[in-house]
Amino acid sequence: MNFEDEDRLISPVLEDVQEERMENTLRPKTLEEYIGQDKVKENMKIYIEAAKKRGEPLDHVLLYGPPGLGKTTLAGIISNEMNSNIKITSGPAITKPGDLAALLTNLSEFDVLFIDEIHRLNKSVEEILYPALEDYTLDIMIGKGPSARSIRLDLPKFTLIGATTKAGSLTTPLRDRFGIVHRLELYNEKDLATIIKRSAKILEITIDEASSTEIARRSRGTPRIANRLLKRVRDYASVLGDGNIDLKITKIALNHLEIDEMGLDEIDRKLLETMIMKYKGKPVGLETLATTIGEEVDTIEDVYEPYLIQIGFIGRTPRGRIPLEAAYKHMGFAYPED
Ligand SMILES: Nc1ncnc2c1ncn2[C@@H]1O[C@H](COP(=O)(O)OP(=O)(O)OP(=O)(O)O)[C@@H](O)[C@H]1O
Ligand SMILES: [Mg+2]
Repeated sequence: MNFEDEDRLISPVLEDVQEERMENTLRPKTLEEYIGQDKVKENMKIYIEAAKKRGEPLDHVLLYGPPGLGKTTLAGIISNEMNSNIKITSGPAITKPGDLAALLTNLSEFDVLFIDEIHRLNKSVEEILYPALEDYTLDIMIGKGPSARSIRLDLPKFTLIGATTKAGSLTTPLRDRFGIVHRLELYNEKDLATIIKRSAKILEITIDEASSTEIARRSRGTPRIANRLLKRVRDYASVLGDGNIDLKITKIALNHLEIDEMGLDEIDRKLLETMIMKYKGKPVGLETLATTIGEEVDTIEDVYEPYLIQIGFIGRTPRGRIPLEAAYKHMGFAYPED
């Protein structure tokens, strides 16, 4: 199994075109509608108001955090709140400096350029970006050999919004050119329940309070998973009942889908069991863990681990990862007291 695994119900990574379509209909359009992430929201509100008041573009924004937490959504909201247009692209899609130059010269004043997976920009493209971000200028080479010369073009004043799940992979010069840097956090149960109720309303699904809370608890702090589970539970409700979601149906559905009370699936449990049994609770490196359970290092680091750390099941030590007491308890093992 790897990052692209399509069968893993609680993978925070986008599943397919169909899911993308659903996400687009569920995407909040304003800061007001964006649930949770209060600190980020408060700050962005102030920066946006200040920029508008000064009649200047918003400073460049870097959003980072695990997949499915609302980076793309927030980029759309920012451009919307700035009353500007957004152009969307991604690091791997920009292969040569010329691609980026074309994107930049086609922007209008105050436009937002959104670059997803910005840590995957290649070096030669990144170098074009530096002066563009700093002085809104573009240096391009015309011609080849001895007659080659560099010319400088002025660009419209734009805002770059970069998104990444791996802030650590960004080069320092790029990172330093963002005036606003925000880390998105995993959502708490209450916010997820609110997101589920909001989505249910848009999708015209009837769901009660207890069921929204139950789905929220098993969504690993991730809105994308919450919306996905809501959809799956709805399917159960329409087959087993009259289509309305109640707690009984929710529990049957989630148990069928093999998502336990903490939102863990069999791979999480395999990971914890490996740490507890095979490595006897001693620190184990990510690479070793990945090889043992047959997963990619990146997948463990970006997808599984953030939630397991958040709920206090895994600890990070200088010598590797360790399972914590709560993990032993959840997995039904006795915690070694020494
Ligand atoms: N704060 C929020 N309030 C309501 N819904 C949200 C919020 N954040 C995310 N969502 C929902 O979760 C879905 C996934 O969000 P989004 O695509 O923005 O995540 P992402 O961080 O860009 O993920 P990736 O890293 O995979 O690109 C969206 O369809 C959106 O409806
Ligand atoms: Mg995204």
